[in-house]
Amino acid sequence: MATAALIENKAFVPKEFNKISRRYDIATKMSQGYQDDLDASARRMNLRGDEKLLDLCCGTGKSTMACLKFLPNGTVTGVDNSEGMLLEATRKLSGGIKNGKATFILKDAMHLDFADNTFDAVYMAYGLRNMPNYEMAIKGIHRVLKPGGKICIHDYSLADNFFARAYWAILGYGFIVPFCTVMTGSSDIYTYLVKSVLTFLTPGQIKTLLENTGFEAATTQAHASWRKPILHSVIAVKKS
Ligand SMILES: C[S@@+](CC[C@H](N)C(=O)[O-])C[C@H]1O[C@@H](n2cnc3c(N)ncnc32)[C@H](O)[C@@H]1O
Repeated sequence: MATAALIENKAFVPKEFNKISRRYDIATKMSQGYQDDLDASARRMNLRGDEKLLDLCCGTGKSTMACLKFLPNGTVTGVDNSEGMLLEATRKLSGGIKNGKATFILKDAMHLDFADNTFDAVYMAYGLRNMPNYEMAIKGIHRVLKPGGKICIHDYSLADNFFARAYWAILGYGFIVPFCTVMTGSSDIYTYLVKSVLTFLTPGQIKTLLENTGFEAATTQAHASWRKPILHSVIAVKKS
């Protein structure tokens, strides 16, 4: 699907991920520090270790793996709306599925049907940006989180300055689109990635959105890697 159409109708994004699902892990492996940054955001949640965590837009399970590192006595439910991405996740984490640590469900993150107050924590890596309506998505997450539960939004959210925008545009159009197109054989989702980041919220705007949707104690943190101007973790707590 053409990039402009995907930006207009983000409900089709998971279907585009089906096209690259088998090569997604290879492409991200070559993206230096990808897993380290996911781990860093999971660490920043300061989990007790026994939480019931929802990994929204879990993809091939890389974010699930990050969360499981900090949950020796907890569990992760991974949700994604791409059959192909989930197939990779279930293959990769078959051990975790067998021992009850991980569960994967095909579901639209915009329409969560879990009961109110189900989860102790929600981790959403590279997911919120793909939602057709950010506020509605956060309201849905707020409903399924327990009071006092934590949310972590880990995403390409540009720092609010010209340098970050220029850095991303050069990196995106000059390297990510050509490189990932060769690696995965599909250019649409990567051109969409670059455009969706340019039109996404800044870290401060995500923080404000969370505070306006029933969360408190929100913090934003950049990452130490080459993604410093473009990648942030925004963490907050559902008001009790
Ligand atoms: C860039 S991948 C991130 C995967 C994983 N969290 C990671 O960090 O590697 C984004 C994922 O969001 C999923 N996604 C996009 N829109 C969605 C929606 N409305 N509901 C559920 N999943 C969605 C896609 O299918 C894709 O697997």
